Amino acid sequence: ELNPKAVIVIFGATGDLAKRKLFPSIFRLYRNKKIAEEFAVVGVGRRSWSDDEFRSNVKSSISSFQSDSAEADEFASHFHYHSFDVTNPESYLELKGLLDDLDGSYNIPGNRIFYLAMAPEFFGTIAKQLKTQGLTAVQGWSRLVIEKPFGRDLPSANELNDEIREAFSEDQIYRIDHYLGKEMVQNIEVIRFANALFEPLWNNRFISNIQVTSSEVLGVEDRGRYYESSGALRDMVQNHMMQMVALLAMEPPIKLTTDEIRSEKVKVLRAMRPIEGERVEDYFVRGQYDQGLIDGKQLPGYREENNVDQESNTETYAAGKIMIDNFRWAGVPFYIRTGKRMETKSTKIVVEFKDIPMNLYYNSQEKENKHPNLLVIHIQPDEGITLHLNAKKTEGGAYTKPIRLGFWNNSVDTFNTPEAYEKLIDDCMRGDATNFTHWDEVALSWSFVDKISKIWEKEKAVFPNYASGSMGPREADELLEKDGFHWWPVTELISEQGE
Ligand code: BG6
Repeated sequence: ELNPKAVIVIFGATGDLAKRKLFPSIFRLYRNKKIAEEFAVVGVGRRSWSDDEFRSNVKSSISSFQSDSAEADEFASHFHYHSFDVTNPESYLELKGLLDDLDGSYNIPGNRIFYLAMAPEFFGTIAKQLKTQGLTAVQGWSRLVIEKPFGRDLPSANELNDEIREAFSEDQIYRIDHYLGKEMVQNIEVIRFANALFEPLWNNRFISNIQVTSSEVLGVEDRGRYYESSGALRDMVQNHMMQMVALLAMEPPIKLTTDEIRSEKVKVLRAMRPIEGERVEDYFVRGQYDQGLIDGKQLPGYREENNVDQESNTETYAAGKIMIDNFRWAGVPFYIRTGKRMETKSTKIVVEFKDIPMNLYYNSQEKENKHPNLLVIHIQPDEGITLHLNAKKTEGGAYTKPIRLGFWNNSVDTFNTPEAYEKLIDDCMRGDATNFTHWDEVALSWSFVDKISKIWEKEKAVFPNYASGSMGPREADELLEKDGFHWWPVTELISEQGE
C-alpha cells in the first residue's frame, strides 16, 4: 500500500545515521513500493555539497543491496542537497523555496517530514525556525521526527520539549526509540495478547522474575564526547530498556490505537518504584570496561578511548532491578542489564516462571539442579521465541531433561524483513505514532533515571571494574543472587538454537 506523498527533509544528511540507516531504509520503502514514485528527499547539512556529491553518497549507502546502477541512479535522482546554517534565518527561507519547488515538480500536496538526525543542541532552534519561517505545511501535514538524545535529564528534556512544542503539537512529534521499530520488540505485545497460553500466567503468581539483557561488543567508538556526558543509564536504560519493560508489564490495551497503547505503557512507568530514600546499590549497579580480549584482539579500556577523560566516572554498563508496584507485578523483579564491550552482541528477554508446587522428578542426578520454565524472546541478532520446559529423560528413572520449543524468524529472506528504521519511517509517513515515544513516557523515564544518576554523579565509582569481553561486573551477579536468582547466560540461550 502506497504511503501519502511527502517531502522528507533530513537534517544531518551528511552524518552517519543518514548513511547507515536512513537512506537504506528509504530505498527499501521505495523498492517495496511503499512510497510513491514521485517522492523527494532533501538532505540538509553544514557541508557545501552539490546534489551530485550527495547523490553519490546516497548510492554508496545502498550499494550493498542493489547492483542495478540504473535503479540506483533513478532512486538517487530524487535526492536534493541544501547547504545550511542552523542559526541563519536566510537558510530556512532558501530551504522553503526549495521545498515549494519540489512540491510543484513532484506534485506533492505540501506534506513534509522534518527528520532531525543531528546534534541535539540544535533541535529546539530548528523546530522554532521551521515554524517562524513558514516551512511547516500550509497545505497537507508537517511532522517532526526527532532522534535521541531527548535531553540528558528531566529538566533539559523539559526545556527541549517546550521549545519544540512552540512549533509542533504533540501529535506532530515523532520521538524515535529505534528499539520500538525492531520486529521482535513489536512482537512482545502480540506474543502476550494473541495467545491464550501466556496471559493467565503473566503475573506475580506464576512469574518469579523477568530479565532483559542488551549487550554490545562494540565500545564507545568515535562517540566519546557524547558518551562522556551520557553513559549507559542515559544512553540505553532511560529509553530502550525501559520501553521493553513497559511493553512486558503493561495491561492489555482496550484497542490497538496509539493512545490506548501509550497510556498503558505510561501506567507501568508510573508504577516503577523510584530509587529514592533507598540504597541505590540495592537496585542498580554500574560498570566501566577495562582492557580485555575479544575475538583474540586486545582492546583498550574505556578511559583510553578518544575524547574520554582518563579518570572518567562515566558508566559503560548498567544493571538494575526495577520493581513495578502494582497489583499484577508486586514482588516480581524486572532485572535489566546493558553494556558496551561485553562478550556478545545480544538482546534477549527471559521470563522465568515460578517453581512447581512439589517436584516429583529429579532434573538430573542431583535433585537441586532445577530447571524452571522459561519463555525467551530473542530480539537480536537472532529473532525468535523459545519455551524451555522439562520432559522425560529417555534413559528411564524419574529424571527429567530440559527441552526447548522454538520459533525462529530467520526463514524469511532478509530483504523482506524490514529494519527498525524502515518501519518507523513508514509509520511516520502513514501518521501512526504508536511506535514512537510520547512526551509523558519520556518525562517519566527521565525522572526514574535522574534519581540514580544524581547519586552516581556524587559518588565516584571504582572504575574500571569489568574486563572487555566479559558480561559485566561481579556486583551485577550479586544483585540477583541476593534474591535467589541468577542471570540466564545469553550465550547459552543462543547456542541451543542449533541443537
Ligand atoms: C543507541 C545507543 O541508541 O543504541 C548506542 O546510543 C547503542 O550507544 C545502540 O550502541 C544500540 O542499538 P542496537 O540496535 O545496535 O542494539
